[in-house]
Amino acid sequence: MPEPTQTRQRISRKAASFTESVIREITREAMKYGAVNLGQGFPDWETPADIKQAAIDAILADHNQYAVTWGVKEFRDAIARKTMTYLGLDVDPDSEITVTCGSTEGMIAAMMATVDAGDEVVVFEPFYENYAPDAILADASARYVPLYRTENGFVFDKEELAAAFNPRTRAIILCHPNNPTGKVFTPDELEFIADLCRNNNAYCFTDEIYEHIIFGVDGAEPVPHVSIATLPGMRERTVIVNSLSKTYSVTGWRVGYCIAPEDLTSAIRKVHDFLTVGAANPLQRAGAYAMSLPPEYYTSLEKEYRRKRDFLVPVLKDAGFRCDYPQGAYYVMADISEFGFANDIAFTAHLVREIGVAAVPGSSFYNDESKGSQLVRFCFCKKDETLEAAATRLAKMRWPYSFWNAMRESS
Ligand SMILES: Cc1ncc(COP(=O)(O)O)c(C=O)c1O
Repeated sequence: MPEPTQTRQRISRKAASFTESVIREITREAMKYGAVNLGQGFPDWETPADIKQAAIDAILADHNQYAVTWGVKEFRDAIARKTMTYLGLDVDPDSEITVTCGSTEGMIAAMMATVDAGDEVVVFEPFYENYAPDAILADASARYVPLYRTENGFVFDKEELAAAFNPRTRAIILCHPNNPTGKVFTPDELEFIADLCRNNNAYCFTDEIYEHIIFGVDGAEPVPHVSIATLPGMRERTVIVNSLSKTYSVTGWRVGYCIAPEDLTSAIRKVHDFLTVGAANPLQRAGAYAMSLPPEYYTSLEKEYRRKRDFLVPVLKDAGFRCDYPQGAYYVMADISEFGFANDIAFTAHLVREIGVAAVPGSSFYNDESKGSQLVRFCFCKKDETLEAAATRLAKMRWPYSFWNAMRESS
């Protein structure tokens, strides 16, 4: 019997089953309290002038109407050339690339195109917060596998990962380099994951948005990024999700892409078409320009980020956080247990209001929120003066918590 309309829920079960983005909420909080925002991962410096000029030129040249739904040809060609140069993968721009509105749309379009109700998707935890709602929106259930913090960075237990795969497993989501942990998966780990995918006939959705932000371990030169798609038997079962956002400091442009075998690409293109029709035409043309920048662009990007990482980590340690140098991406996951707060939410509220620095509560990266209750994430994709301002404020963390309690009570 149909439900009587008066008792019907006003929002869908799906929408009711996840919360608003905590990361975007933190940015609103930072603005409200005038805090230095080390929460949401976007650069606060100017986008390179030549990249902006390419976008302006494209608008003036009147590339202002819908582009081909799966992406401007010139941009897809540039993506294919860059993928060959940096990943060694030969990709057909006409049948294996879909340009999307950011990698955010790329990931959800890839999932909706390949996953059915009842399928399971394996996700390493902590995870970039979009993946859980992505799974819900795609009707899948997520199965979480922990990444453990050790002296050698974050690692997973091979037996636990293998046990997460079963006949219902449709895919694994990999974020490599990893947000929020800064982990770069080792060749041995990638091979192990690939083996599970091949043996279980599962896909790998690999989010490689931080591919050019890799630092190397213990002062060693960074090893070039390796995509799992390049391992034997993985090309046909991998969707690479990537975007212009982080590599070219244009997070507001919302231009990303999926690289996948032809049959998956046809499905992704259909989903993408009805989700968004297409990404901004002139910005795709500027993307084609950006992707033709010389190797020095990427070397200096990595050097700049390494310098910023090497500034922030000691600042955090001095302030009383326990944390390590991330191997990639531009985040530091820091342990707050020294400060004696009940949980990460109370801590980040204190941090933004009393100290004047915004960070993301660790629980937002976990399905079981208690696992992140003594963690927070800082980003270092900020101007030197922003990081210096944060450092000055964070030094106040060394004052005892009793001082802050007394301050709060007396105000
Ligand atoms: C791992 C990861 N994937 C995807 C995104 C979103 O990227 P885009 O701007 O391409 O949608 C982010 C943004 O912070 C991210 O950290």
